[in-house]
Amino acid sequence: MKNILFLILIPFTMFAKKPEDERGIYVKDQHSYSNPAEIVVQHLDLSLKADFSTKKLVGFVTLQVKNLTNADTLRLDTYNLKIESVKINDAPVTFILKPADEILGSELAIPITANTKEVTIYYETSPDAQALQWLNPEQTAGKKHPFLYTQSEAILARSWIPLQDTPGIKFTWTATIHCPKELMALMSCPQNPKQIGNGTYSFKMPFAVPSYLMALSIGDLAYKAYDNRSGIYAEPVMLAKAFHEFTDLPAMISSAEQLYGKYPWLQYDVLVLPPSFPFGGMENPCLTFATPTIITGDRSLVSLIAHELAHSWSGNLVTNATWNDFWLNEGFTVYFESRIMEKIYGKDYADMLNLLSQNELKHTVAEMGVNNPDTKLFLTLKVVILMMAWVILPMKKGVFSDGIRRSSRRYVGCIFKKYFEEHRFQTMTTKEFLHYLEVNLLQENPLIKQKVNVDEWVYGTGLPKSLPVIKSKYFDQVEKAAAAFIKQPTVMPDTAGWTTHHYLHFLRTIAPEMTYEKAVALDNHFHFTQIQNSEIAFDWFMIAFACHYKPAYKALENFLNTVGRRKFIAPLYRKAAADATLRPWIEQIYKSARPGYHAVAVKTIDEIFEGK
Ligand code: BES
Ligand code: ZN
Repeated sequence: MKNILFLILIPFTMFAKKPEDERGIYVKDQHSYSNPAEIVVQHLDLSLKADFSTKKLVGFVTLQVKNLTNADTLRLDTYNLKIESVKINDAPVTFILKPADEILGSELAIPITANTKEVTIYYETSPDAQALQWLNPEQTAGKKHPFLYTQSEAILARSWIPLQDTPGIKFTWTATIHCPKELMALMSCPQNPKQIGNGTYSFKMPFAVPSYLMALSIGDLAYKAYDNRSGIYAEPVMLAKAFHEFTDLPAMISSAEQLYGKYPWLQYDVLVLPPSFPFGGMENPCLTFATPTIITGDRSLVSLIAHELAHSWSGNLVTNATWNDFWLNEGFTVYFESRIMEKIYGKDYADMLNLLSQNELKHTVAEMGVNNPDTKLFLTLKVVILMMAWVILPMKKGVFSDGIRRSSRRYVGCIFKKYFEEHRFQTMTTKEFLHYLEVNLLQENPLIKQKVNVDEWVYGTGLPKSLPVIKSKYFDQVEKAAAAFIKQPTVMPDTAGWTTHHYLHFLRTIAPEMTYEKAVALDNHFHFTQIQNSEIAFDWFMIAFACHYKPAYKALENFLNTVGRRKFIAPLYRKAAADATLRPWIEQIYKSARPGYHAVAVKTIDEIFEGK
């Protein structure tokens, strides 16, 4: 009898392991063809020539691999790459490029032996490679030179480099980039801004990073430093304005360091891109890529920089192991962003930003439906489409952005510092993180555990019950002004001291009550139609559509033809496409604007018009 019990118990104790042990070193990633558990890329050397006339990157990459299991095949991710040849020890090998899947691309299978250390792949990108956007001079601020930039997150690195395209593995890299002499090349690694390339630029990334953090940009660029570790890259005509806007950058870096430990990547610069950049920002290591639409002249949209900087810890240092764990990257970052903002600009300012963002969250959840599985933090992405369409949710609902926030910040703050130290340059799954949280925080703090139902936060749909109530004294005043205007549209708010956020909250509060007449009154007073602030312009244009306020349409058309930031343009197209009286007109606009957008924006907006 005893023996039987013993036999029954053994299997259970065998499985009572920490989640870290369960997965092995590499978690299976359903969005990659690669087989890192068998053979893993540890370093890559890239050599590419940027040909602006054919819109191609042409060259080769050498992958240094470690064969862990005597594997006979190296499987790589590619998307629309033209593979010229593959060589091992200078000898060509016969590779197989499998049929393409629309989302994942094609698996490139390369035969290897137990002793294979290096594999070189000669290839070129396709002119419509998804990660790349090749801009004509007219699409830049200076209008004289072409421009190229990449956007690799989430699974687009494979469209410009054949590699193991999964966030679960990290490698170091070097690169040599050849470009036209008059242009400057930049990559996501520490770099010397004084490097006079003369058409050839060399890069070296000494820290291990995942593939989605590989980035390249080439254009007519100049640099201005704040200090010896931070500064701004922009087109020369934009540089002074951008430098002025982001002047708090050094303060942001030191605030972040106080919270999470020393900045780990040596250099932190911001590259201001042309307005077609599909995102607000992208946390490429050492070199955040940013949209110019946050440059307003009054520094009111710089929280985006705090966000991308915060990714230097959450995301870049400790990385989501798969895209299902995306909230570990984005949710934490939203929380850190808010902590950095509060440290520099004070609690009232941070409260205002938090409330604005929580309102956006509520709005999004209401639109998606409270039972929609995509409103969970932990995603189960059967297809990666969601990543490309990208919901706002993982960002805003980060457990720590709210749940445990004010009540227990002291504890949370210190476990994060420790958490980052202990997991530097590693990857993290949701399960592992929850285990860490349990052991390091919840077990010792039953009150927090009781208050915050972590499982509900992470695995539940809709909004968790412990979502905190955020109050903003500034917004209380704005709401009063909004109520007065709705009642009597001649009563205009007193906007002394207002920043972008007050205007946004005002417009969002009055939006449901807006009429054509009220739009006329507001526009006569504030001239919103002419406003250069893209955030305010966007809210105003949404109102203009709702009220059929035609005097704004020309400016709107102009906006859609210059700005490619998906957060703005997708809702505008969606709204107009759903309105039969506007549909033919907006289709025309899209037809002319589409060639100027990046592939990720095009994909989303194509789907709007296809009714998906
Ligand atoms: N990493 C994201 C951008 C991203 C997400 C690219 C998913 C591709 C797939 C970046 O850090 C981000 O969150 N950007 C936001 C700005 C932020 C302040 C909320 C954006 O672009 O709007
Ligand atoms: Zn982010």
